[in-house]
Amino acid sequence: MIRPKCSSAQRVSSRGVQLSLSERLLLCTANMPVLDQEPSKGSGSRDGLPKLPLPALKDTLDMYLRCMKHLLTEEQFNKTQHVVEQFRAPGGVGELLQSKLMEKRDNKANWVYDYWLNDMYLNNRLALPVNSSPVMVFPQQHFKAPIDSLRFAAHLISGVLEYKTLLDSRSLPVDCARGQLAGTPLCMEQYYRLFTSYRLPGPERDTLVAQESSVMPEPEHIIVACKNQFFVLDVVINFRRLNERDLLTHLEKIARMADSEEERLPPIGLLTSDGRTEWAESRSVLMRESTNRDSLDMIERCLCLVCLDDASGLELNDTTQAMLMLHGGGVAKNGGNRWYDKPMQFVVGADGCCGVVCEHSAFEGIVLVQCTEYLLKYMIGSPSKLVRAASVSELPAPRRLRWKCPPEIHKLLASAADKLQRQVKNLDMNVHKFYDYGKEFIKKQKMSPDAYIQVALQLAYYRCHGRPVSTYESASIRRFQRGRVDNIRSATPEALAFVKAMTDGKPSTNDTEKMEMLQSAITAQTKYTILAITGMAIDNHLLGLRGIAHELKMEKPEIFKDEAHLISNQFILSTSQVPTTVEMFCSYGPVVPNGYGACYNPQSDHIIFSVSSFHESSQTCSTEFVNSLVQGLQDMRDLCNKCKFSSDPKQPRQSQTLETHTQTDPNWQNKTPQRPTDMTKNQQTLPQVLLKTPDQTKVEAQTQTSLQEEAQALKNGGKS
Ligand code: COA
Repeated sequence: MIRPKCSSAQRVSSRGVQLSLSERLLLCTANMPVLDQEPSKGSGSRDGLPKLPLPALKDTLDMYLRCMKHLLTEEQFNKTQHVVEQFRAPGGVGELLQSKLMEKRDNKANWVYDYWLNDMYLNNRLALPVNSSPVMVFPQQHFKAPIDSLRFAAHLISGVLEYKTLLDSRSLPVDCARGQLAGTPLCMEQYYRLFTSYRLPGPERDTLVAQESSVMPEPEHIIVACKNQFFVLDVVINFRRLNERDLLTHLEKIARMADSEEERLPPIGLLTSDGRTEWAESRSVLMRESTNRDSLDMIERCLCLVCLDDASGLELNDTTQAMLMLHGGGVAKNGGNRWYDKPMQFVVGADGCCGVVCEHSAFEGIVLVQCTEYLLKYMIGSPSKLVRAASVSELPAPRRLRWKCPPEIHKLLASAADKLQRQVKNLDMNVHKFYDYGKEFIKKQKMSPDAYIQVALQLAYYRCHGRPVSTYESASIRRFQRGRVDNIRSATPEALAFVKAMTDGKPSTNDTEKMEMLQSAITAQTKYTILAITGMAIDNHLLGLRGIAHELKMEKPEIFKDEAHLISNQFILSTSQVPTTVEMFCSYGPVVPNGYGACYNPQSDHIIFSVSSFHESSQTCSTEFVNSLVQGLQDMRDLCNKCKFSSDPKQPRQSQTLETHTQTDPNWQNKTPQRPTDMTKNQQTLPQVLLKTPDQTKVEAQTQTSLQEEAQALKNGGKS
């Protein structure tokens, strides 16, 4: 549900003070729906998309047992099997809950949306940095003088305003699915939350609220963070917006104001990096003062943040940039120069470390990528327009947000700073660009690149830890109304058989057998992917059954108290494909203390991996994981090549190297962003970004007939 904007008159309470977002929410409950509560829907469809289907209870429970069997001890599995049989007994709890979910499916646009949003994000009490908020890391910029970073920021803001115009006029073309089951239109709802939503902290659960674009033009502003100070920069009034030249002038003013030490206020942004319950408490302390209420209101209603970061002093490479983006480097660096509740925070570091930090509850990484790619392409395609042009010069000068901080707030700030510092020390990050080959090599093996990489991740984990673990891979369900994601459980029994054969060191399994196992692992993964993207996976369904039992105030069914259920939801490997067509990458943290976050970006001839874990866990090590991953990818390539030779003796031996992307390829260096050697001042303000050439994006003809047939069968109601 979308929250309409209040007019400024509505925004002022009877006390004559501006109301904060939450206060307004309370006052205008009828007019201000919140995004985490879906409007009740009749049968009418949203954007012509179908509703998310509800899988059959039997199918989900069978699949649950299949997914868990090899992750449990025999004893655990026997117990789980018993519990599942009880749950699904005719006339039992399972059937009752399923019938209630069917009612929900009939009455709502998306039966799982609210359960999913609460479970995935809003109920989670962990701090947002590292634990929840993913980041996009832009190619490192090479600013020669401080003004260059401000020029870059002004250009970026210009792009944001241009993009916002597209959003406001609903002119964004509808996305279509690519890859598996390509061509279907996708739900666009997430885009409209990019610059309008806000995650309000709550003592037990957060609330996702958003402003509806109104017919009447409203002034719009962004918040610029600089040296832990927050400044309001008005950018749009009466449909006219500040031009880039004036944006730059205002940013220069902000930088000067932030420099003035006497006026510096405490780094209040640090509070947003705290646990959600702690932040909700500190926020209620802040709200006692009208000055703070006004400041909070301005932040909560802004389009986005632009964080002008100081140079971190670190040597920048992919890994350090990802870390800096994830936590800002802690209190000593730019950790307080953030406001984590706001979905879009653009970071422009004086040292060229740039990117976006995103609050995840409002949208998925794919939408974030589409938006940021637009911005980077805009910046390349539209050279900085620093000539004076018509602008709304009557817009007020930027102003610093004021805070009144009782001693209590200083204590809370110190505590938030300590916790952020611990996160900084704890994050074990490794970003690796794997240049041996990319998705074109995998496609030539007639395998799904995504499935192949998932099997490689299983192999890497098994090599490091000698066991399989519950694995999460995000699968988009945007083919359906209000669709977000479900989970592809990549730790399949077939993957386990393959990784065991690849690591047991026994000559008993020959290459042909290993190849068969690899193919069977990839087929299983691909089938699961199709189940998930067609809305037939198990995680959302199980969550819905649990959620509806809770709603009906029933005692928690045994199946959800069972140890297997806990194990199934401990995602030690949390993985996600976030592909880009511009040279940048996504990173995020692990979701459990002893886990890995593994994000990958497959390109035609290389793959970018961003692996995270926690130093505090004695079980994990990102570097070891990456090393195993590289070894596994090389082994898998060699296996494919060897089996190809044995099945086709006419193949020349040297094709082993031709099939891969080696460093002898004269073009390989072009794939790495090169530091420009001779840049003019103007060029420095353009983002140094690599776009894929048409050759790289060329789609290879594919033979996917059997997959498509299976998908059709699935769509027709049967599982294969
Ligand atoms: N032989 C040859 N080519 C094949 C193939 C095969 N057997 N199987 C797939 N391919 C091709 C596809 O046609 C596709 O081609 P394209 O690059 O020209 O489009 C390409 O390989 C990639 O397909 P695949 O690797 O199977 O993956 P996918 O693109 O279908 O992606 C998911 C799979 C699960 C990642 C995707 O459906 C999804 O849900 N993405 C969203 C993930 C997400 O939400 N991330 C953000 C979380 S915050």
